[in-house]
Amino acid sequence: DFALHLKDLKKKNVPHKYLENKNIALLFEKTSTRTRSAFTVAANDLGAHPEFMGISDTQFGYKESVADSAKILGSMFDGIEFRGFEQATVEGLAKYSGVPVWNGLTDDWHPTQMIADFMTIKEVFGTLENKKLTYVGDGRNNMANSLLVGGLRTGMTVAVTTPDGYQPDPQALAVAVEYGNHFTLTNDRFAAAKDADVIFTDVWTSMGQESEAEKRRKIFQGYQINKDVMAVAAKDAMVMHCLPAHRGEEITAEVLEAHA
Ligand code: NVA
Repeated sequence: DFALHLKDLKKKNVPHKYLENKNIALLFEKTSTRTRSAFTVAANDLGAHPEFMGISDTQFGYKESVADSAKILGSMFDGIEFRGFEQATVEGLAKYSGVPVWNGLTDDWHPTQMIADFMTIKEVFGTLENKKLTYVGDGRNNMANSLLVGGLRTGMTVAVTTPDGYQPDPQALAVAVEYGNHFTLTNDRFAAAKDADVIFTDVWTSMGQESEAEKRRKIFQGYQINKDVMAVAAKDAMVMHCLPAHRGEEITAEVLEAHA
């Protein structure tokens, strides 16, 4: 809701420099287009100075421990955004830096993307309450885990359809059991997509899993969003993808372009 407020101020050209004179470190172990752009533009809009640090720009992760880097960055910056591999790294930054830390994606979670997605769903439908979100594809990746937990916590019904062995992280499933029949997990993408308001997917091979790409292409073959899947969803269903998309793999070009 606060992001919607900020978006509205921006649209109306009303200055909203809530973070004037703050400095924010943007630390990236993995590549990024949207998250880097979003943090940079948002920091500037809010009056803060963002400083981008790519993997080859710092000693982070190979020459210096997470705790040491965290203390140094925290002594100079007012906040740190981190995108990388291990969840333990972002938690280490939060533990040792003494400043707010944003998770800009790890292998396990992608909360900033998820919050932006819920913001979009709310803009389109006016509410999240009782809307059905179906996630089709790699059920164990950062997006699936985040949408599952976030969707249930914001009052949505969530269905995940994924092959055996790719079910969401046990931590995410532990949250899901609190929500009883608001959560379903199935191998049947048509059952999962039935009457869905939002059909969501993500790549079959996430960053860091490139050596498994061939194997994954075969395993996820039956977990594509195509027009047959859309035919069982609600008439006004939204299609969402955190991007980058691989047309012809997790989603057909036809469906992606029709909903772009
Ligand atoms: N699951 C994808 C999300 C990219 C925004 C990845 O981690 O590569």
